Amino acid sequence: MINVTKADIPGIEEYMEYLRYIWKEAWLTNDGELLKLLEIKLKEYLKINNLIAVTNGTLALQIALKSLNVKDEVITTPFTFSATTNVILWEELKPVFADIDEETYNIDPIDVEKKITDKTSSILAVHVYGNPCNLDALQQIAEEHSIKLIYDAAHAFGVEYDNKSILKYGDISTLSFHATKIFNTIEGGAIINPSGNCVDQIKLMRNHGIKSEEEVILPGINAKMNEFQAAMGLCNLKTVDQNIKKRKKIYHHYFKNLSNEKGLKFQKITASKYNYSYMPVCFEKKDLRNNIHQELLKIGVNCRKYFYPLTVNYEYFKNQNIDVVKKYNLKNASDIADRILCLPIYPELEEEIIDEIINKIVSII
Ligand SMILES: Cc1ncc(COP(=O)(O)O)c(C=O)c1O
Repeated sequence: MINVTKADIPGIEEYMEYLRYIWKEAWLTNDGELLKLLEIKLKEYLKINNLIAVTNGTLALQIALKSLNVKDEVITTPFTFSATTNVILWEELKPVFADIDEETYNIDPIDVEKKITDKTSSILAVHVYGNPCNLDALQQIAEEHSIKLIYDAAHAFGVEYDNKSILKYGDISTLSFHATKIFNTIEGGAIINPSGNCVDQIKLMRNHGIKSEEEVILPGINAKMNEFQAAMGLCNLKTVDQNIKKRKKIYHHYFKNLSNEKGLKFQKITASKYNYSYMPVCFEKKDLRNNIHQELLKIGVNCRKYFYPLTVNYEYFKNQNIDVVKKYNLKNASDIADRILCLPIYPELEEEIIDEIINKIVSII
């Protein structure tokens, strides 16, 4: 089976070197030396300050909301992975959904502005498939209304806008280093706080609120990244550039061969440096998308309908007997979710297989 992605793993001997070090030190977690080294190397690679590594991208989001003291209503996108909406509910906040731009698939700042009330505390936007949100417009809205701006940058490792890391925008950005991401630590994530004003708070929250042996000064959580995760990250960071190059080649191969097909659209990318983490293709109609999905499965190609269903269509909203899509007028998000399909993209994907996928799609259209 060809899956939509495949985890990048280093040579086993390279990882073993780190394991030998861990065995020698017998220091498995709690601010280990490998974690500290990974944080330094990530800051260098991403050209940012103030990065705190954590257990996963979901806890990164939870800590982001908590450390910014977000209350009441959070304006967000329904066109995302479940974690973005779930964390808002988990923190007992109210998600308010804004529609997306039909070309970039990111939250639409005009609709964000319409959804602001006197209860709005923040915007939680997602750089969908690593494509930068409308950063300037969202910044302006956040400043005008004195609300916080958080970016779920789970897909956006290494992405730049206007030749600057997109992690430098907003109050906080979060990354996911899950096995399926372009840079992985098996499970993992990070919190980036450009101004640095929440760093102490975030570090405390990551480790139960413990300040010193006898002082616990806030009710924190356990979001510590362990040494085995950090070791994986140190190995994978060495190959991330070359992997992005391979992904770029694959992306352009799909693009060259599919972009002239009738009714087929690609996401409009606004990044000055992109990471090619996904290969989303938007078909003319939902039925066609579903048919292509099924036909590709028959030849052993497992594409994914990311992000279908929209998070607003999850069971737990249905149980509330509210049609959230209608309530929030999410026309573009519903439309794109119905027509999108993410094709396989990962460094080792062979051109022969890509061509087979392309030919199948063309034969059906
Ligand atoms: C947009 C988005 N946000 C958050 C997450 C959560 O990250 P993690 O799986 O590391 O908890 C993911 C993970 O896939 C994601 O795609």
